[in-house]
Amino acid sequence: MKDREEHLPGELGELGDTPPAIFRKQLHQIADWIADYREKIAERRISPNAKPGDILAQLDATPPETGASLDKIFADINRVIVPGVTHWAHPQFMSYFGCTTTSPGILAEMITGALNVNAMTWRTAPAATELETLVLDWLRQWLCLPNDFAGVVYDTASISTMHALATAREGAVPTTRKLGLSGRDLPVFRIYASDQAHSSVEKGAIAIGIGEENVRRVPSDSQFRMDVAALRKMIAQDRQENFRPMAVVGTVGTTSTASVDPVPEIAQVCREEKMWLHIDGAYGAGLALLHECKWITAGWNEADSIVINPHKMLFIPLDFSALYVRDIGRLRRLFTLDPEYLHLRDPVGAEINYMDYGVQLGRRFRALKAWMVWRTFGREGIAARIRDHLRLANLLADWIKIDKRFELSAPVVMPVVCFRFVTASDRKIDMLNSEIVERINASGRAYLTQTKLRGRTVMRIGLGNVLTTEQHLRNMWELIQTSASEVAA
Ligand SMILES: Cc1ncc(COP(=O)(O)O)c(C=O)c1O
Repeated sequence: MKDREEHLPGELGELGDTPPAIFRKQLHQIADWIADYREKIAERRISPNAKPGDILAQLDATPPETGASLDKIFADINRVIVPGVTHWAHPQFMSYFGCTTTSPGILAEMITGALNVNAMTWRTAPAATELETLVLDWLRQWLCLPNDFAGVVYDTASISTMHALATAREGAVPTTRKLGLSGRDLPVFRIYASDQAHSSVEKGAIAIGIGEENVRRVPSDSQFRMDVAALRKMIAQDRQENFRPMAVVGTVGTTSTASVDPVPEIAQVCREEKMWLHIDGAYGAGLALLHECKWITAGWNEADSIVINPHKMLFIPLDFSALYVRDIGRLRRLFTLDPEYLHLRDPVGAEINYMDYGVQLGRRFRALKAWMVWRTFGREGIAARIRDHLRLANLLADWIKIDKRFELSAPVVMPVVCFRFVTASDRKIDMLNSEIVERINASGRAYLTQTKLRGRTVMRIGLGNVLTTEQHLRNMWELIQTSASEVAA
C-alpha cells in the first residue's frame, strides 16, 4: 500500500487554497527553478533515453486519496518529469520548427495561469477579448494584410485551417450550416494543395465532411513549390468529371523544406475559377516581419484566409495560431449561436465574442503572451532574431557545400536546412542518413529530424530558438560529421 501523502504543517487547510505566505514561498522556489532551468539548459540531455511506458512506470497509478506537499510533488517533477521530456528549449534542439519560448513568454504564462479567465465572450473577459483584437491587428499590420482582414486566435494551425475550409464550404453550399451535407444531392467538392503541403489539410477535409480523398495533391517543381500549370490541369479535369473545385491551399513555408508556393499565380487561378484561397503560413508567414523579406507577402491580399502560428517563428510559447479571414463575418455567421444560458445581451452591438468564430466555447487568454513578448522585443527585435536564424541556416548550408560527403537537398529560403550524406552506395544512403539522425538524437547532445524529399531520406535542421548561437550550430555540425564518418565505417 502506498504511504499516506502529507502536506507540510499549514501548507493546505481542509478547505480553500494554499495560504498566501506559503504560496509566495512556493512561487519563489518555482521562479528560481525556472531561472536555473533556462540558464543551465544547455548542460542537459536533450531527450530522455526512455521507452514507451518508462515514465508511467515511475509514477503512482493509484489516484491520490489525500493531498501531498509541494516538496513531494516537486521531487517527482525533478526525478521523473523533467528528465522524461524532450527539451525543445535546448539550444541544440533543431528539429521541426523552433517553437521557442522566451522569458517574457514564460512570465506571461504565469500571469495567465493566475488570472485563469475564459475569453469566450467580451463580458467574461473584456481585457482578454480586446487584447486579442489588438495583437491580431498588430500582426495583421506586420503581415501587410489589408484591413478588410480580421482574425481570431485558436490553438493550432490545424484548427485554423479546418475553420478556413469550413468557411469555404459554406460559401460553396450556403445551407450547410443549417442542413449539413448528408442525404442531399450535392456535388463532390475538391480541395487542392501541393505535394509538400501539411497533412492538416486532409485533417480539415475529414473534419468538415469533404473527405480525405477529395484533397488532391498537386505536384511541386524542382524547388518544392506548387506547379500552377499542374493545378490548372487538375481543376479542369475535375470539372470535366463533375467534381466541384472548392479551395486551394497555398503554403508559405512548407513543413519539410520551407518552400514558398507561387501565391500570386495561385490567386489568379482562384479568381478565374471562383475558388477559395487559403494560405498556410503557419511557419513561414512570420518572415514578413523582415523588411528584406517582404517579397514573401506577394498575393496575400488576394487570399480569402491565411493562417500563421506565432508559436512557430514569432517567439510566442505554444500554443497560439492566428487565422485571418477577409470578411470575417462569413466565419462568424457560420459558427455563431446564442444559447440562453450565456445571456448575450448587447444592445449596441459593440461586444466581440470570440466564441462566435469557431467551434470552441471556452478559450484561453492567449493574447497576453503575444502582447508581452512582442512589446518586449518590438518588431525590430523579433526581426533581428529571425535574421540571425537565417544567417545561421545559410552558414550551415556553406559548411555543407564545403564537405563533399554531403549535399544540400533544397534551397535555403527560411531558417530550415535539408541535406543529405551522399558518400555511400545509392542503396544504402537512405539508411545511413536515418542512422546519423538516430545516433545524434540518442546521444542526447543534439536533436534533428529527417524527412523524405522525392522519396529520398534527408536530414533536416530547423533554427528558431532564441538561445541557439553559432557555437551551438557548430557543435551540431561537428556531431553530424563525426556520426557520418562512424556510420560510413
Ligand atoms: C506548414 C504547416 N502547416 C500546418 C501545420 C500544423 O500545425 P499545428 O501543429 O499548429 O496544427 C504545420 C506543423 O508543423 C506546418 O508545418
